[in-house]
Order: sequence, then structure tokens, then C-alpha cells
Amino acid sequence: MKVIITGGAGFIGKRLAHKILQLGALTDAHGAKRSVSELVLLDIVAAQGFDDARVKAVAGDLNDAALLAETLAGADSVFHLAAVVSGEAEQDFDKGIRVNLDGTRLLLEQCRKLAQPPKVVFTSSCAVFGGPLPALIPDTQELYPQTSYGIQKAMCEMLISDMSRKGFIDGRSLRLPTITVRPGKPNRALSGYCSGIIREPLNGIETVCPVEPSTRAWLLSPRKVIDNLIIGHEAPASAFKHTRAITVPGISASAQEQLDALRRVAGDVVADRVTVKIDPLVTYFMTSLPINFEANFGKSLGMTADANFDDIVRAHIEDSSQ
Ligand SMILES: NC(=O)c1ccc[n+]([C@@H]2O[C@H](COP(=O)([O-])OP(=O)(O)OC[C@H]3O[C@@H](n4cnc5c(N)ncnc54)[C@H](O)[C@@H]3O)[C@@H](O)[C@H]2O)c1
Repeated sequence: MKVIITGGAGFIGKRLAHKILQLGALTDAHGAKRSVSELVLLDIVAAQGFDDARVKAVAGDLNDAALLAETLAGADSVFHLAAVVSGEAEQDFDKGIRVNLDGTRLLLEQCRKLAQPPKVVFTSSCAVFGGPLPALIPDTQELYPQTSYGIQKAMCEMLISDMSRKGFIDGRSLRLPTITVRPGKPNRALSGYCSGIIREPLNGIETVCPVEPSTRAWLLSPRKVIDNLIIGHEAPASAFKHTRAITVPGISASAQEQLDALRRVAGDVVADRVTVKIDPLVTYFMTSLPINFEANFGKSLGMTADANFDDIVRAHIEDSSQ
């Protein structure tokens, strides 16, 4: 079985690749469990850190049609993660459209040309929701995204649902919560502070919380997002009825609750390294996002969230020490 991960050098892509290698087999679009013989990591930068004969790192642009055709030849499953994240898509409209919309459409058109319609797992975002929202958002909530990133993700979801209905692909769009704690350097996601206010103080670095402490977010750990991406892939096509979009379970926590968890797990000296200084763009983005979901469809497929935010902090400390 040939599996592709676009964005395979990224935060989630690399972890997903390691998980697939560890599992060794996935279920194809016909429901057959098959060994993964080839795992291609396509990214603008070459993915590093894989010492496994099944892995091929391809450095190139998602918008390069010839490269895509060559990379996708014979693919059984595609995890499409490559994207310009929220901060960059908001600040550079043209780049967001080029990568997030045009690049995804090009990828889907290449998938459509394959002899067998592949499974396509697309990483959407809870940023597809916005506008007036109920306290607990049902799976049937209308999409009124309030950012360019959210609009681009919503358009791709629609296309994936339609191309699946047509039988061109067997797609599934997973609306991810904010994934925290992201190790390493901050990226250009507007929600990146959620990781920053935990990661930096644990590394001995003073940091700023750019939103009011009462600002809530919908959160999931790196460990759980990988498990849920695999569950989304393994679900049979028959599980999907009127849509191919799945809201992934998460937990709702305010910045204050996240900092309280940090204080409980790591102590006062660490938690006192965070001060509040409001950033208007981050505040606009975060307060436009939904903060609590039913996520019943995702749960019915077996997807789960972390039990609480203390567990997310502990998992990050454990993972960082390995
Ligand atoms: N991390 C989160 O909190 C979160 C939340 C919701 C949705 N998502 C989605 O999950 C996916 C993965 O996110 P991540 O956190 O790993 O982001 P990331 O930035 O670490 O990874 C994205 C990867 O895409 C690559 N990329 C960007 N433009 C490209 C192009 N033109 N051609 C080829 N590769 C390109 C980047 O080099 C990068 O390695 C994205 O689609 C993102 O929108 C992430």
C-alpha cells in the first residue's frame, strides 16, 4: 500500500508518519487491511529523521502539478496536511488561496486521475465555524467562517464532500481543534500562544499571553490528534451520510484554566513566567472561533479527547524529555 502525507515535514505530519510506520498497515478504500510498503512525505522542505526503507521524502511545492502527478502515481491513501496556517493566511491572502485552496484542488484533481479512487484524509479546522454560535455546537451547525484560513478550509471540505459523492475519491475532512502543546519554535498560527504559554515557561522563558485570560479555546494534544487522524482514515465510507466532515473531539479551556493547570503540574515559578499583553489580531481570531462542540459523529467513530488540560501538560513534559 502506498501512502502519501503532504505537509509530511510539519508538526503533525512527522508524528503521523511515525505512527503509520509503527502500525505497519492501514485499511484501504475497499476495506482491506494492507501493509504500508511506501510512505511518501511531500513537503516544501525535505522531511528529516526517518531511518526506514519505506519512507521517501519528496521536497517540492503542492502547487507543482507535474510533481504531484509523479508523487501520487499508484497512491492508495493520501493524508493532506500541507497548508499555510491561520496567521499567514490572514496576512497574505494570495498565498493562503494559492496553497490552501488551489493546492488542495490540484491535489484532489490528481487523486481523481488515479485508477482506483484513494482515501483522502484532509486536515480541516474548527475555524470553519464562526459568527453567532450556540454554547455547545452540534455537528449540524452552519459554517460562517470569519477568517481567510477558515473560509479556505470550508471550501476544501465542500469539494471533498462533493468529489466523494461523485466517487472520485473516498474523502474525509477532520476539523481539528487547536493542537497543543506544539514543541520547538512557535509557528504562524494565531492560536500558537496556546502552546507558547505552556512550552516557553517550562523551558525557563518569560512569555506573553496575548488574549484575556477568560478567552476559551478548543484543544487537543498531539498524541490524541494522531490517534484521531488514524481513526478518521480507518472509518469505512459507509459511516458517512450527508457530509464527509467530522468535528474532532477536544476539550474547552480558557487561558486562565490552561495556566492553572501549568501551575498545578509544574509549580509557581514556572507559571509566574507568563504575563498578559493583549494582541488585537490574535484576540479577533480566537474570539471568532467556537469553543465547545458536541462532536457526536467523531465520537461515534471512536475519536476521543484528552481527559483534562493537566494531562495535556503532563504529556508534553513526558514527550519533551524523550
Ligand atoms: N496544529 C494545529 O493546531 C492545527 C489546528 C487545526 C488544523 N490544523 C491543520 O493541520 C495541518 C497540519 O498542521 P501543522 O500544525 O502540522 O502545521 P505545520 O505548519 O507544522 O505543517 C504544515 C506543513 O505544510 C508544508 N507546506 C506549506 N506550504 C506548502 C506547499 N506549498 N507545498 C508543500 N508543503 C507545504 C509546510 O512546509 C509544513 O511542513 C494543516 O493543514 C493545518 O491547517 C492544524
